[in-house]
Amino acid sequence: MSGSVVDCDVLVIGSGAGGLTAALQLAPGARVALLSKGELAEGSTLYAQGGIAAVLDTADSTEFHINDTLIAGDDLCDPSVVRFVVENAKEAIGKLIGYGVEFTRAEATDGNQAYHLTREGGHSRRRIIHAADATGREVETTLEKRVRETPNVSIFDYHLAIDLLREKREDGRPGRCVGAYALDRRSGAVTLFRARVVVLATGGASKVYLYSSNPDACTGDGIAMAWRAGCRVANLEFMQFHPTCLYHPQAKSFLISEAVRGEGGRLLLPNGERFMPRFDSRAELAPRDVVARAIDHEMKRLGIECVHLDISHQPAAFITAHFPTIHAKCLELGIDITRQPMPVVPAAHYTCGGVMIDKRGRTDVPGLYAIGEVSFTGLHGANRMASNSLLECLVYGAAAAADIKECLPGLAPPPELPAWDESWVTDSDDEVVVAHNWDELRRFMWDYVGIVRSTKRLERARHRVDMLRSEIADYYGKFRVNNDLLELRNLALVAELIIRSAMARRESRGLHYTIDYPHADPVAAPQNTILVPEGFRLAAFE
Ligand code: FAD
Ligand code: SIN
Repeated sequence: MSGSVVDCDVLVIGSGAGGLTAALQLAPGARVALLSKGELAEGSTLYAQGGIAAVLDTADSTEFHINDTLIAGDDLCDPSVVRFVVENAKEAIGKLIGYGVEFTRAEATDGNQAYHLTREGGHSRRRIIHAADATGREVETTLEKRVRETPNVSIFDYHLAIDLLREKREDGRPGRCVGAYALDRRSGAVTLFRARVVVLATGGASKVYLYSSNPDACTGDGIAMAWRAGCRVANLEFMQFHPTCLYHPQAKSFLISEAVRGEGGRLLLPNGERFMPRFDSRAELAPRDVVARAIDHEMKRLGIECVHLDISHQPAAFITAHFPTIHAKCLELGIDITRQPMPVVPAAHYTCGGVMIDKRGRTDVPGLYAIGEVSFTGLHGANRMASNSLLECLVYGAAAAADIKECLPGLAPPPELPAWDESWVTDSDDEVVVAHNWDELRRFMWDYVGIVRSTKRLERARHRVDMLRSEIADYYGKFRVNNDLLELRNLALVAELIIRSAMARRESRGLHYTIDYPHADPVAAPQNTILVPEGFRLAAFE
């Protein structure tokens, strides 16, 4: 069923911290259409716990924050990007407070600061501003309220963008990005969105793995759409595994914030032994890649299903004040964290690589921007430092909005574009294929492209993903689109890009660890892994 046509100045695809920031800052001067594939608030931002990194304490400094980020990124961060983000952090936090975000206030022992600052892995100072242990909920719901009050923003929730549209130039080659098709998940109709500029803010791709801290929305749609439209992607081998997700059959994707370790939580083996000091002098506060690998190592060595995280030595009042969400969730499952340790395992958490952008959020395709977790800015290098990602969404959301506002007056309205054509497809006759392929893909990515990799496992994964992708392409060409098929098509493409990137890196660095090259390359200078979509080489670089 092909549906209606919507015209706007800017189409923002995604309504997490990145998309909402851009929409709010664009709306005074532009008609914005804002898409989300489920409820407006649903996405990783809503579930963020720890907080947002920013230099807000006089004992801290921009140089310290920059240095910590560079160390966590294992020599692969772009120093000029790190400086750009860190220097803009205070202003970004100020804007959030201006929108009405309520961060946890300072305690009597916190000196002269207005807000309490916590610590997380890799940070040499207390610099994480937070709203107890539900920072994302406070940020997302406040921004959502502001967006709903903004007259120039039209909201299209339950609209899943399928593909981006580029205008055809006179020489027949693809030109500017001028819109997208989107499936209304409730009616099944496909709407044509026409825009002068498109912003991708679709979040990450951690659902490519069997176990993930991410909500269901994180299927890498934006990375896949941008690749199909002709954008380069970078560093997709660096998929971050959070060390501590709750290990419980009823706790789907529930994270135990790194702030628990920041406030003294210790990682223990089942016999009560604290093991992190054996792996790193920073112990529980080593960067995530180090902690996740140490847990994986101990679990495999001892054949255990999980390790434990214990904060029960802190006063109960301290625990319930700082971690009310985690305390309540664990209690619901029969674990009292004021008295007992929590069972935890690592799970896929964050996509460090993504669609390549510059400091204004511009991709390789004219008229197409990308912000937030979908993008690759150069900030995170080989391993993102905790709480730098919401910050990246805010800084790049603002930078992209500023650039778009400057460019819009000079841009022509989008041309006539064809409506979605379904005349050659029928309803699916075998939906079990899609469900089966979803499971298979996520399982082999977990087993073969996870925390510890090898060339042989990557080759196996490549072989399987090639087969799946050809099956999915066949299915896509014959049957009417639906949510699961579209997400699977994107996940399989992103899986292939992750595997190709991992195969291209013949060393271990940051989050990418392979037993065949267990050390960083001692000779070559550290390099990003950049993939270029075939057939778009000329269009993308002119
Ligand atoms: P998201 O918030 O994921 O939003 C993506 C949006 O895109 C959604 O609206 C979704 O519906 C939409 N979308 C996706 N595909 C489509 C499509 N095809 N069509 C239409 N819409 C689409 N980072 C920190 O800095 N600090 C933290 O404390 C922290 N804690 C975290 C805790 C958890 C449990 C998780 C999962 C992540 C955490 N992170 C944290 C990471 C951080 O939350 C994310 O990187 C960040 O929120 C991403 O924001 P975003 O705007 O890029 O995407
Ligand atoms: C956490 O609270 O541990 C998540 C922080 C992050 O991913 O930045």
